Amino acid sequence: MKVLIMGFDGYLGWPLTIRLMANGHDVIGVDNLYTRNAVNEVGSTSALKILTPTQRKIEAESIFNGTLQIKNFSVAEFNPKRISDVRDTKIYKLINDEMPDAIVHFAEQRSAPYSMRNWWHAAYTMNNNIISTMNLIYAWKVIKEETGKDIHIVKMGTMGEYGTPNFDIPESHYVKALINGKKDIIKTPKKAGSWYHQSKAHDTDNMGLANSMWGLTATNIMQGPVYGTRTKEITKESLYTRFDFDETWGTVLNRYCVQAVLNMPLTPYGKGGQTRAFLSLEDSVESLKRLIENPPKNGEFRIVNQFTETYSVMQLAEIVKEVGNEIGLNVSIKSINNPRIEADTHYYNPERKILPELGIIGPTRDIKSEIHIILDDLSKEKERLQRYMRVIEPKTSWKSSGVIVSNETKKRSKQ
Ligand SMILES: NC(=O)c1ccc[n+]([C@@H]2O[C@H](COP(=O)([O-])OP(=O)(O)OC[C@H]3O[C@@H](n4cnc5c(N)ncnc54)[C@H](O)[C@@H]3O)[C@@H](O)[C@H]2O)c1
Repeated sequence: MKVLIMGFDGYLGWPLTIRLMANGHDVIGVDNLYTRNAVNEVGSTSALKILTPTQRKIEAESIFNGTLQIKNFSVAEFNPKRISDVRDTKIYKLINDEMPDAIVHFAEQRSAPYSMRNWWHAAYTMNNNIISTMNLIYAWKVIKEETGKDIHIVKMGTMGEYGTPNFDIPESHYVKALINGKKDIIKTPKKAGSWYHQSKAHDTDNMGLANSMWGLTATNIMQGPVYGTRTKEITKESLYTRFDFDETWGTVLNRYCVQAVLNMPLTPYGKGGQTRAFLSLEDSVESLKRLIENPPKNGEFRIVNQFTETYSVMQLAEIVKEVGNEIGLNVSIKSINNPRIEADTHYYNPERKILPELGIIGPTRDIKSEIHIILDDLSKEKERLQRYMRVIEPKTSWKSSGVIVSNETKKRSKQ
């Protein structure tokens, strides 16, 4: 198959690129290197050193079978003064030239704290995420009308779109409801907890609308936080994917692992009862490959809950502590005030049917062994990571967005 990956240079994009290449697929990768720059903006860096996109292409093509074409531009192009037709956008032109069988959309601002920093970051997140998806929907529509080709869109959303509801989260865009005594079919309720999650919920609704109006063929993936440094293909350092650990860009387990390596206490937010649906990088990439290779029927809007296990953030801290202490690190846990607005304890039970049907039954990797590997990989970077200790502690508060104004933002606001 020919697969176009929007956001191929990111944490998930790169391992998926090489998984697909290793399985004989041709990949076209688009990325404007936004994440590399935005992580620098908050004074942080990837814990694992990664090659430049051009070096990545050379390395991947020398190791794996398929070819990798790379392009650097924004897929969220929107300039109302200059562009009045989606056919004039770079992403449309690329899709129209290449006619891929599937397009994976990862190219979004993916940090909840980043979206909560202040007005600029909230607006940037909304613009980048919603417009990138809108460009893709319209490119799909025009190409389908003009050529008849029905390209499978694989869009990465997040389990966080739902918040933590008291119902079992279905794998469906619609649910039956009883409202004021009357039955109806409504969109599955969502309760985002940040501007980032809200942008993802908008994307899902926009894709659902495109499906009901024009028959968009799409897989919308509701994914939990992913952990890990390795996949079957990432067997050497030159193939590493990025690994973020700071308060803005690092997911909870990544932060804990860097804290363990730096002999800092692990810092669950609040009581640590917040339960989320997790999966390893290997399971995420393999699930994505199977969803791409097994598309839905034409005109179907397939919703997939992508995770393999659920943990509370305190349970995860206990596991990292246990593994860290086994390998001689001196790991402790110290809860800190939760900077976010979220329930500390709650019901959490997402449905999980589609991935098991594709053979992804449960976690293929034991979380303790996986954490062991992460700690080993990070330990080699310990000296360099010591310079970044200050970026782990939370500074972005959900209650007072606007307090933090980085130099970068100040520079922008003067332009
Ligand atoms: N990593 C996780 O745990 C996780 C969990 C759930 C959902 N997701 C979602 O999966 C997707 C990928 O996540 P990730 O962790 O790989 O993030 P990432 O930030 O590492 O990767 C996203 C990539 O997209 C690129 N990008 C962003 N905006 C772009 C634009 N306008 N044009 C071109 N390229 C652009 C970035 O430069 C980056 O390389 C995101 O949409 C994220 O919201 C991630």
